[in-house]
Amino acid sequence: MRLRMTLAAALCCALMTGCPGKNDAGNKSSEKAGDTNTTAAAPAAASHKPLPSTPPNMTGEAPKPDLSKVKLPDGVTPEMVELGRQVWMGKAGGGSCYTCHGMDAKGSMLAPDQTDNEWLHGDGSYEAILATVKKGVPAAELKAAQAPMPPMGGANLDDQHLKAVAAYVYAISHSGN
Ligand code: HEC
Repeated sequence: MRLRMTLAAALCCALMTGCPGKNDAGNKSSEKAGDTNTTAAAPAAASHKPLPSTPPNMTGEAPKPDLSKVKLPDGVTPEMVELGRQVWMGKAGGGSCYTCHGMDAKGSMLAPDQTDNEWLHGDGSYEAILATVKKGVPAAELKAAQAPMPPMGGANLDDQHLKAVAAYVYAISHSGN
């Protein structure tokens, strides 16, 4: 670029009679071209917590949410929450959420904490949780994990067990555990 400008300036000079001030013609705008890009390589801002670095906790029981601290959404009952806890633990409906999210639901290197009220997907409403569990999280939509969540975590939950496990996730994340 600079070379071409110089040539152009020289050519211009050669063609013109009484060429004005030789070297400062036309070159100003290209001088600072290298300076504009210095902030582009900053590391991607962490918009969410990284996953824990530990494998999922596979022992014990899934936590029982304190239902006195959570207002359950319309249509969600304490019985659904308890059934969902059983689904989480692999004791009802064929679910196995604990194998990635942990029996304690605190997350692991495979999947995020479900006891906090912070969401990588959706707004944390019951409907959003239900939709995420039903659909899973395909590879292209992962925010922190390396491998996707298959629909229903790979289980084939019927409607009752699907709604129940979503109710359970809602309850543990909204009761200030
Ligand atoms: C094979 C591992 C695996 C299993 C099994 C699994 N999940 Fe997930 N889950 C994930 C991953 C991976 C994500 C997305 C993490 C990311 O975006 O980086 C996720 C995300 C979620 C989210 C959204 C969390 C958020 O912060 O927005 C919910 C809710 C959820 N899972 C519920 C469940 C339920 C309920 C089950 C059982 C029916 C289950 N998961 C089974 C791996 C799993």
